[in-house]
Formats: sequence, structure tokens, C-alpha cells
Amino acid sequence: MELLYEGKAKKVFKTDNENEYIVYFKDDATAFNGEKKAVVYEKGILNNKISSEIFKMLHQKGINNHFIKRISDREMLVKKVDIIPLEVIVRNIAAGSICKRLGIKEGKEFKKSIIEFSYKNDEYKDPLINEDHIIALEIITEDEIQIIKNYAAKINEILKEFFIGLNIVLVDFKLEFGKYGLDIILADEISPDTCRLWDKDSMQKLDKDRFRQDLGQVIQAYKQVLERIEK
Ligand code: TMP
Repeated sequence: MELLYEGKAKKVFKTDNENEYIVYFKDDATAFNGEKKAVVYEKGILNNKISSEIFKMLHQKGINNHFIKRISDREMLVKKVDIIPLEVIVRNIAAGSICKRLGIKEGKEFKKSIIEFSYKNDEYKDPLINEDHIIALEIITEDEIQIIKNYAAKINEILKEFFIGLNIVLVDFKLEFGKYGLDIILADEISPDTCRLWDKDSMQKLDKDRFRQDLGQVIQAYKQVLERIEK
């Protein structure tokens, strides 16, 4: 298969069908814009399985997304989309970059959930941008921003409920969307690499912060998430 694109955690391959791609999940973990790197053995398998289950669940709840089916431990078949170069971040509880940026204590519950946009650009370290930047730079239109914000808010409600059913608090997460014909649909992945997930009782971190902050037990945490989903 022809490799189309290789990112930090995934590869994308063309298939015989021009409307479908294969996403391959690697074990590579990076943080701080690639400054910190490691191989986390079997992470790719867990993220593929977790993302697949979440995309299936979201589809059942009416959220259009690129997932077609999981075809192996590390591969999922997806609809070919043109990725919009934005990271759409939803925050329910303060953690990560917003704490450093605004001097907020980790764990503060926000009165209203926050949607942020980053411009996907490794060279400039995915800078935070606002809606005016997005419109001015013609990344997407004002209407498309509204569609994405509505999607993100709806996905947040669905995911919060889904995870609380697994005794997990959804702290924040990152989404990516793609253009699919005239539609905008959810793409990329939803996994412990792209979400902050805390055990509701112990507040133990079950996500990539275990890698970012050298907390140990990275793969065990990802396994916990998958096991709770599969139960
Ligand atoms: P942040 O607090 O570092 O800005 O991250 C917010 C959320 O977005 C968190 O759940 C991790 C996720 N994220 C990614 O998926 N990819 C990234 O490149 C970054 C910076 C964050």
C-alpha cells in the first residue's frame, strides 16, 4: 500500500478504493511538540481499539465520522477526508496548557466548557488561534466554524456521559474534522493520547499525561480505559 502521510503517532495509507484510507496506529509517543519521544509498546493497538469503539458509539448517537471498520490490531479503515488544519480542543476541567497559560490550578471545574482552536502546524508548534484568525486566513468559513463548534459541544456531552458510565471523568480532549464532499465530519482519533481522562474515585490519570509527566504505568492506564469500554 502507498504511504500517503506519516504523523507522530499514525500513518495513513491509500487503498484500492479511492474513497477510503487505512490509518495505522504506531507505538510512538511524543509530547511538547515532539521534544519528548519514546516508544510505548502496544500503545498503537490500544488507541486503535479505543478509538474504534468510541467512533462506533458516536455514530450510533448521530455523530458522522470517518470510521468504517477496524481491520486489524493496528489498522482502521476510514473514509477519505480532507483534514481541516485545526485542533479543536474542548475543556471541562483545567489541566495542561491552560493552567500554564492562565495560572489556573489543575482540577478547577469550569463554569462553562471551553472550546479552543489551534492551527495545526508543527513548525510553529500548533499555535492557539481565534475565530477571526481562522476566517481571516481562510482556513474555514464562519458558518463552518459554527458547525464545528456545535459538533464539539454535542460530542462533549456524549463523551462526558459515556466516560462517567465507566467511572472516568472527561477533563479535556482534542478533535480534528475533515471535509467529506460537502459535509464536515469528525476524523482523526479519540484515545488516551488525545483526551485527559481521570478515574472518578482516585482521580488517577488514565491518559498521555502519564507519559508527559513521567508518572509511569502508561500502558497500564490505556489498558484500564479499554477494559472498561469492553466490559
Ligand atoms: P493541552 O492542555 O496540552 O493544550 O491539551 C489539551 C487536550 O488536547 C489534551 O486532552 C491533550 C490533547 N492534545 C492532543 O491531542 N494533541 C496535541 O498536540 C496537544 C497539544 C494536545
